[in-house]
Amino acid sequence: MDSGHLIPRSFTAKVRKAVRGEGVYIYDDEGKAYMDGCSGALLSSIGHGVKEIADAIYQQLLVMEFAHPSRWSNDVTVEAAAEVASLAQKGLDYVWFVSGGSEAIESAMKMARQYFVERDGNGSGKREIIARWNSYHGSTVGTMGLGGSMGRRRTFSPLFKENPKICAHYCYRCPLNLKYPSCDVACARTLEMEILRLGPETVAAFFAEPVVGSTVGGLHPPKEYWPIVREICTKYDVLLVADEVMCGMGRTGKAFCTQHWNVTPDIMCSAKAIAGGYAPVGAMIVKKEIAETIRDKSGAFQHGHTYNGNPVSAAAVTATIRYMKKHKVIENAAKMGKLFDTMAPALEEIPIVGQVRGMGLMRGVEIVADQKTKEPFPASRKAAAVVTEECMKKGLVVYPGTGQISGVAGDQFLFGPPLVSTKEEIETMVGRLAEGLKASVKVLKQ
Ligand SMILES: Cc1ncc(COP(=O)(O)O)c(C=O)c1O
Repeated sequence: MDSGHLIPRSFTAKVRKAVRGEGVYIYDDEGKAYMDGCSGALLSSIGHGVKEIADAIYQQLLVMEFAHPSRWSNDVTVEAAAEVASLAQKGLDYVWFVSGGSEAIESAMKMARQYFVERDGNGSGKREIIARWNSYHGSTVGTMGLGGSMGRRRTFSPLFKENPKICAHYCYRCPLNLKYPSCDVACARTLEMEILRLGPETVAAFFAEPVVGSTVGGLHPPKEYWPIVREICTKYDVLLVADEVMCGMGRTGKAFCTQHWNVTPDIMCSAKAIAGGYAPVGAMIVKKEIAETIRDKSGAFQHGHTYNGNPVSAAAVTATIRYMKKHKVIENAAKMGKLFDTMAPALEEIPIVGQVRGMGLMRGVEIVADQKTKEPFPASRKAAAVVTEECMKKGLVVYPGTGQISGVAGDQFLFGPPLVSTKEEIETMVGRLAEGLKASVKVLKQ
């Protein structure tokens, strides 16, 4: 069947039809089982077809499907906020629910601005939001100005306000041409230069992904990076906003990724795995001082979508987090991440693999034409698409990305299996990954 009246993601790309999901498997319409090696887009963390989540959503639908948040409160959303806050760092006490990651980021942009206006008055000059190249923060017009993913931005750049940007900690191809650790994490220190260049009195916030997702698959920072940017933000009264849409909710072996470095951002954005893919939800998690400044001044965050605080989505969030706690899903992610560490060196020996990186079960593989020179394949070879298809043929789904080097050049993909994966499942998936990569060598090196 063609897509009929539906506008698909692509009118040209041939995609298989998914008819059923169970555990780490997705089944197509011919009955073939694929291991979901990227949890959709790193969201199906508790696996597919978990009945108790479906039951929780159904029960909520029977009781009350919707009551507009401007006129009604409800217990389920309050309960979901408490569950989210229970995973966050101390002090990140307030939660605002939305329908996905882009809305969570947009909420944080507006929250940062409103906070300074409420705190300092209408004349507050704090309005600039600094972000990074090689980042993705969403597809709405507001979030695209923050994002540094050129392929996704070019057509729409006349529509959005460009945000100032610093370079990412892309150590494999250091944009500053330095080497860690002798670089002294200079990329983090460029934040201070950018704040000074703009004038600290104009800067409201710095947004970054603790581990980069789709734009430079699995790019993890040096351990000093987040403590340094925390210190710089505090020094200049700039809010630190962690985009944990992809890397949060247990993905890297901690509930939220910045917990690895004992850093507490001022705002964290979550989505995707917060409801395991069972409902479209996002959340902005805010420090007490920020939320309470708004509570005590104007009394309301000047923002809100119809589905803000939706009870059905809230039931999905609560059920998912309780499932994660009950089954020690985050602990399992940390354990399976260690297992992956033991298997990564063998993957790096495959002739088209430049680097295997990441933390926990958020991993990225950079594909290169030459391991020594790090030269990428020409964009016309579509190397990421080749690897994805070869892995699919082996029964493994991965998440491809391109353009991390120049906006056009560069191929990589994310490997991020469900956090509930067993040792045997991880071993099978990594085995299929190796087979898919080896088959790609034959195609790409012809
Ligand atoms: C890091 C990051 N931020 C924000 C978003 C946007 O989330 P959504 O697609 O739910 O709007 C994504 C989506 O992939 C993401 O990976």
